Amino acid sequence: MKTYMFLIIMSTFLTDKPNLDVGKKIYLEKCKVCHGEKGNVNPFAASVLSPPPRNFTLEKSKQELSKTRMIHSVTEGRPGTAMMPWSNILTSIEIQSVVSFIRKNLMNANSN
Ligand code: HEC
Repeated sequence: MKTYMFLIIMSTFLTDKPNLDVGKKIYLEKCKVCHGEKGNVNPFAASVLSPPPRNFTLEKSKQELSKTRMIHSVTEGRPGTAMMPWSNILTSIEIQSVVSFIRKNLMNANSN
């Protein structure tokens, strides 16, 4: 029984794939300050940043933002804006996790 539990616990740590819980934690720690807890932008950030942070809850965002584009923008940043590159801070799996969290929980978009 103990070995069984140990293996289950280890496998959750070792699976190297995007995870929504990990994505949520990253979002709340690192992205919420600008994009807002619900993805509809922190009003203060919107008032001081030009261009303002992306509002993920708008239909326009759902139309424009493919998963590939989002992963690219988070990795490389958006030059000339406050959206910095995260590739030195987050691993590729962490970036995929936070993008999946935004798409599923804030944009209500499909996973592609
Ligand atoms: C300092 C404020 C700030 C923080 C922190 C921030 N962003 Fe952004 N983000 C922006 C701004 C500003 C834009 C709009 C850039 C533009 O208009 O091109 C943006 C745009 C985006 C976009 C859309 C890019 C596109 O292709 O149009 C995504 C996706 C995104 N952010 C994800 C994230 C994620 C994930 C995090 C946390 C890891 C994060 N952002 C943290 C300010 C921020």
